[in-house]
Amino acid sequence: MAVVAVVGGQWGDEGKGKIVDLLAEHASIVARCGGGNNAGHTVINDKGHFSMHLVPSGIFDPQCTCIIGNGVVVDPAVLIEEIDSLTERGVDVSRLFISNRAHLIMPYHTLLDGLEEEARGARSIGTTRRGIGPAYSDKVARTGLRMADLIDEQVFAAKLAVALDQKNRLITLVYGAPPLSFEEMRDQYFAFGKRLKPHVVDTVPMLHAALSEGKNILLEGAQGALLDPDFGTYPYVTSSAPISSGCCGGVGLGPTRIDRAIGVYKAYTTRVGAGPFPTELKDETGSLIRERGQEFGTTTGRPRRCGWFDAVLARYAAQINGLDSIALTRLDILDSLPTLKICTAYRWGNGIVETLPASMDDFGCCEPVYEEMPGWQSSTAGIRRFEDLPPAAQRYALRLAELVGARLSIVSLGAAREQTIILQNPFEA
Ligand code: IMP
Ligand code: MG
Repeated sequence: MAVVAVVGGQWGDEGKGKIVDLLAEHASIVARCGGGNNAGHTVINDKGHFSMHLVPSGIFDPQCTCIIGNGVVVDPAVLIEEIDSLTERGVDVSRLFISNRAHLIMPYHTLLDGLEEEARGARSIGTTRRGIGPAYSDKVARTGLRMADLIDEQVFAAKLAVALDQKNRLITLVYGAPPLSFEEMRDQYFAFGKRLKPHVVDTVPMLHAALSEGKNILLEGAQGALLDPDFGTYPYVTSSAPISSGCCGGVGLGPTRIDRAIGVYKAYTTRVGAGPFPTELKDETGSLIRERGQEFGTTTGRPRRCGWFDAVLARYAAQINGLDSIALTRLDILDSLPTLKICTAYRWGNGIVETLPASMDDFGCCEPVYEEMPGWQSSTAGIRRFEDLPPAAQRYALRLAELVGARLSIVSLGAAREQTIILQNPFEA
């Protein structure tokens, strides 16, 4: 039995969805720990092509119980849409449970996310505008509404009245926007509550029962280490902890219960949203990666910024996550390139830096120092064993793992489940 956390090692979109989908067959429970519908996972399996935002990718495995943990912020409209679309396509969602402690994203959060972004002007973060930051702000300000409130109409209406009164003053007096209607929101959320009630439970005892029965549990992280509000590229970050320690708080497991943490990394780097990105490629190679990798956001459709693998950031992410191993994804996207570059340090002024500066004004002045490796210039998409990869591809993958400081456990060479090389199954390790 093992508890395995799967987390993003970069700026999100590393392919966690595929890795979780793959490992779910070994797990009795898959639990989402943080973030909200800012996340977007693409899962491609025998049932089709799915864009997932809230429901854990384990839902496709009929043996698997899925949990949306207390650390997640839930937009009920989005969740219901996702449940309906899965149901329509023959996926059973009766095994989906939502923590009664999870916070709700309200229409004023989504509205304020946009208004705050506009107000930041040139220093805007490039958020997904899904209300994530405002919802987490309310959580720590102790004015949030939770799933437990949603399923109790009387409590919900009373709490909403207080919250909305305050938000409407902010919306009208600070931002000069029209107020939101209490009655409309109340009735809409009453309807959401009725729909979601069968799924809302205290998920903590469920997890601990599974633990004492010796079952395998998979913790599904969202976003990536560099979007962590403490350790990431602040303020160009998200509002929940996407690192392995965040997985503990996001579901109610102690750190001593996590047996292994796997970091998912792309064989190159991408980011959406604003903020410095030293290895960004604004040239043809960047466009080639974007086109070949279809690097457009699952959630917002925005083109992702693409660049070389940044081993400085990757190693830092491995440290703050306590990674045991890495899953390297999208190696096939680099198939045609004659030479590959890996950033191993930064040049900053007259010196060399090997860590992420705390200030983004400083980070913006860092120039990458590259190590070059020859490419393999042949297709890897059909390869199923590591030793069958072109030697240059093997060397590149192993070099990345060496620089990151963790073992290579999985290599992904395409979106389909079978396009995966498992060097070591984390549930059997
Ligand atoms: P927010 O999470 O919507 O507040 O956005 C804050 C920053 O995190 C922005 O740069 C987003 O693009 C980024 N972000 C949030 N979620 C994801 C994700 O799932 N993948 C990639 N970037 C994300
Ligand atoms: Mg994504």
